[in-house]
Amino acid sequence: MDCVQQVPDSQLTEARSLEPLRVLAVRGGIQSEVGEWRGREVFVKTLLTDDPQAALRFEHEGQIAAGLDHPLVVPLLARTRAQLIFPFVPGPTLRERVEQGPLSPAEALGVTCGVLGAVTHLHARGVTHHDLKPENVLLAGGSLRGECVRLVDFGMSHSQALPHDIHGGTRMGTPHFMAPEQFQGVRGDPRSDLYSVGVLLFDCLAGHPPYEDALGWLVGLCDDCAPLPGPPELHPILQAALSRDPAERPGSAAEMRAALRGAARALGLEAACP
Ligand SMILES: Nc1ncnc2c1ncn2[C@@H]1O[C@H](COP(=O)(O)OP(=O)(O)OP(=O)(O)O)[C@@H](O)[C@H]1O
Ligand SMILES: [Mg+2]
Repeated sequence: MDCVQQVPDSQLTEARSLEPLRVLAVRGGIQSEVGEWRGREVFVKTLLTDDPQAALRFEHEGQIAAGLDHPLVVPLLARTRAQLIFPFVPGPTLRERVEQGPLSPAEALGVTCGVLGAVTHLHARGVTHHDLKPENVLLAGGSLRGECVRLVDFGMSHSQALPHDIHGGTRMGTPHFMAPEQFQGVRGDPRSDLYSVGVLLFDCLAGHPPYEDALGWLVGLCDDCAPLPGPPELHPILQAALSRDPAERPGSAAEMRAALRGAARALGLEAACP
């Protein structure tokens, strides 16, 4: 499904319906900026390079974002060949929040249950995110409650609905958060995302990811996991999600969320994971 408005380039640029306000970053031929579009504050990604591979990846990202529709996923408002327009979400990223110190179990459960709600939607639409990490989780209004999670960044995602996987055979991703099979080049397995959510929960509770030597772990040279953080009720879920073997991870995002809810109940924290 692709119900997002295809706004002609001319309407965005010549008619100046998009007012650029502030450049945030330029990386890999893509500029992100805050702007104003149709009276609202927006986050805009603009493709700056002519490289055909970059253009294909940019189009792929837009197509995937266009096929999603969930309150915990930042919606794509409009796109052109060279621009993707999203609502601007005020609030820090989860990375910025974790840098201030580990989260409480209630906060970590809240935000992880929110991420899993968004991921359940992605997986139901045949999309694997492949880059789940605190940098790509925005906290609307700065809150760590599950309903304030806003998931972004489909630049590395895989969709069953799209004719080809332009990332196939690559090792794209962020080592600390990447599942071992993803590092080996396996694409489109939803259980890779559950591994990343396990790392995200670990990072929230400990203030750092599980493997200091992430590449050593990914290639199978080192298994030195830091002690499991947080209450013991969460340890079996962390351990399962972080399994090297995808078959030993939770069966689905919904199953992992249900397990976290069970642990929240046992801890008297059911309000954190409603
Ligand atoms: N809708 C949004 N509202 C506010 N900030 C956003 C929004 N989308 C993304 N950001 C911020 O911009 C950053 C980069 O966006 P995104 O993750 O989509 O791009 P990227 O391809 O990963 O680029 P980079 O390599 O710069 O992280 C995010 O980590 C987040 O801090
Ligand atoms: Mg990102």
